[in-house]
Amino acid sequence: MMTTTTNNNSCFRWFVWLAVISSSIIFLVFSMAASSSSSSSSSISAPFRFSFMSGNTARYFIPSSAVGRNLQTNNAVISAAAKYDDPHHRSPNSSHDFPSPIVITEEEKLENGLARARAVIKKTAAASRRNFSMTAFSGGRDIYRNPAAFFQSYIEMEKRFKVHVYEEGELPIVHYGPCKNIYSSEGRFILEMEHGSNRFRTRDPYSAHVHFMPFSVTLMVKYLYKPNTYDVTPLKDFTSDYVKVISTKYPFWNRTQGADHFMLSCHDWGPHASMGNPYLYNTSIRVLCNANSSEGFNPRKDVSLPEVQLYDGNISPKIRNPPPANNSRPFLAFFAGGLHGPIRPIVLQHWKGRDRDLPVYEYLPKHLDYYTFMLQSKFCLCPSGYEVASPRVVEAIYAGCVPVILSKNYSLPFSDVLRWEAFSVNVDVSDIPRLKEILMAIPENEYMKLKEGLSAVRKHFVLNQPAQRFDMFHMILHSIWLRRLNFRLSQTV
Ligand SMILES: *[C@@H]1O[C@H](CO)[C@@H](O)[C@H](O)[C@H]1NC(C)=O
Ligand SMILES: *[C@@H]1O[C@H](CO)[C@@H](O)[C@H](O)[C@H]1NC(C)=O
Ligand SMILES: *[C@@H]1O[C@H](CO)[C@@H](O)[C@H](O)[C@H]1NC(C)=O
Ligand SMILES: *[C@@H]1O[C@H](CO)[C@@H](O)[C@H](O)[C@H]1NC(C)=O
Ligand SMILES: *[C@@H]1O[C@H](CO)[C@@H](O)[C@H](O)[C@H]1NC(C)=O
Ligand SMILES: *[C@@H]1O[C@H](CO)[C@@H](O)[C@H](O)[C@H]1NC(C)=O
Ligand SMILES: *[C@@H]1O[C@H](CO)[C@@H](O)[C@H](O)[C@H]1NC(C)=O
Repeated sequence: MMTTTTNNNSCFRWFVWLAVISSSIIFLVFSMAASSSSSSSSSISAPFRFSFMSGNTARYFIPSSAVGRNLQTNNAVISAAAKYDDPHHRSPNSSHDFPSPIVITEEEKLENGLARARAVIKKTAAASRRNFSMTAFSGGRDIYRNPAAFFQSYIEMEKRFKVHVYEEGELPIVHYGPCKNIYSSEGRFILEMEHGSNRFRTRDPYSAHVHFMPFSVTLMVKYLYKPNTYDVTPLKDFTSDYVKVISTKYPFWNRTQGADHFMLSCHDWGPHASMGNPYLYNTSIRVLCNANSSEGFNPRKDVSLPEVQLYDGNISPKIRNPPPANNSRPFLAFFAGGLHGPIRPIVLQHWKGRDRDLPVYEYLPKHLDYYTFMLQSKFCLCPSGYEVASPRVVEAIYAGCVPVILSKNYSLPFSDVLRWEAFSVNVDVSDIPRLKEILMAIPENEYMKLKEGLSAVRKHFVLNQPAQRFDMFHMILHSIWLRRLNFRLSQTV
């Protein structure tokens, strides 16, 4: 491992290793005999065979505020789960309790495990409402919608959750991803899932709760997209072919039309690529940085992925460690960034070069340092750019600078667990002219609470190598786990 001495970023390490073991790097689109993508939508015309439970079938459904405020206790689930815990009821011969001979399939076992997890989470949520001194989290409990339920859900995930990673597809587009620059969270997740020593990956697809399609949209753009054409067809063809291959070769996709499958992309065009297959778009779990709910992002089934800027593959040393609590912050709010998208022009128009307390730049002059400004500001403005997500949000969290979210229709990461209002400020785009007034009006004690929230939430946004409990990798997985808990496969209903 000579390489590790020069670069401790294991994305790099993995790449070296991958390049050695893979004698041929194939740049072509996933090979598939008949790959006409136009036929794919017509061939998949069967109705969904599962449904997100609602109405009177809501017994299996935990609302997407899942581990949130109002988990109703549900006796049906709990007693059904308890029944399966009783070995007597597991016997295929106990037809006496069931109308027809019952064979517990692998799928049913998985579903029964999930039912037990739901029951335990609900029970914990209910108990914690009665007993507020439950101390799953000693500090920063305000940052969670329901700390005890989240903690329980996380434990259940660690106990049970199994992810199958498809082995189909060739390097470099599949099984690898970017580990530098703005789309790093894509590569870091794919590589952690492929090569990390995490307990969640299973090699037995039949024992998996979800199936991961480990292609990288960023690398599709690099190898398949023709620059300046704005034509995303090659990306769509790739995902379409990928789904065709795995759905022909394995029974899993067809069982739920992809509902227990997920893809992950931080690239702006992740959503475009997912349009290659209508079920991938509408039914599968899409883990995306571009989580724009007015562009088809569906927070009930999709997962918002944090965007992280790693210039050289690592977090800048300036913000790698939490700043000291007494770190002085002479500036009220800071922003520097290009005129991208609809919101930043408004910010720059009103604040660029206007106010000494609010250093706002379009391009930061060379002699000034971006992270030093973040460390010296009380608030960091995080307006959407070309897309809703901004790496500034995570950088601000690292720098202990309270993020000011300026966006429309952005589904914030991990928001079914986290109370963003406990560590960030949301300012409506129409209030940008009043920004200073709004931030000045936040009383000192409230600001201190936001700061405490920030330091408590930091660990959930950190990328560790190897991944550690409750860090970003695990929070992403937990979001997927919550989506998976939301439905049952049709066969067992
Ligand atoms: C259970 O049923 C199977 C066939 O369905 C039978 O072979 C087996 O003997 C039965 N076991 C008992 C304990 O009745
Ligand atoms: C509340 O929870 C705490 C911590 O788990 C426990 O020590 C205490 O006994 C509980 N109180 C009641 C009334 O259950
Ligand atoms: C899944 O469905 C597609 C389209 O109906 C079909 O072509 C494919 O063979 C099916 N896969 C399996 C494993 O049966
Ligand atoms: C998603 O479903 C809607 C409604 O059925 C359909 O109109 C749309 O074309 C689907 N999206 C994609 C990308 O296939
Ligand atoms: C997008 O945001 C606007 C206001 O910011 C809101 O009126 C609209 O309902 C949102 N659309 C979706 C799909 O969430
Ligand atoms: C902050 O606290 C540390 C240790 O408590 C101390 O060494 C340092 O001088 C303080 N810095 C400021 C700016 O007060
Ligand atoms: C989100 O989607 C809407 C609808 O397509 C679009 O108008 C808006 O500009 C998008 N937001 C960003 C920041 O790109």
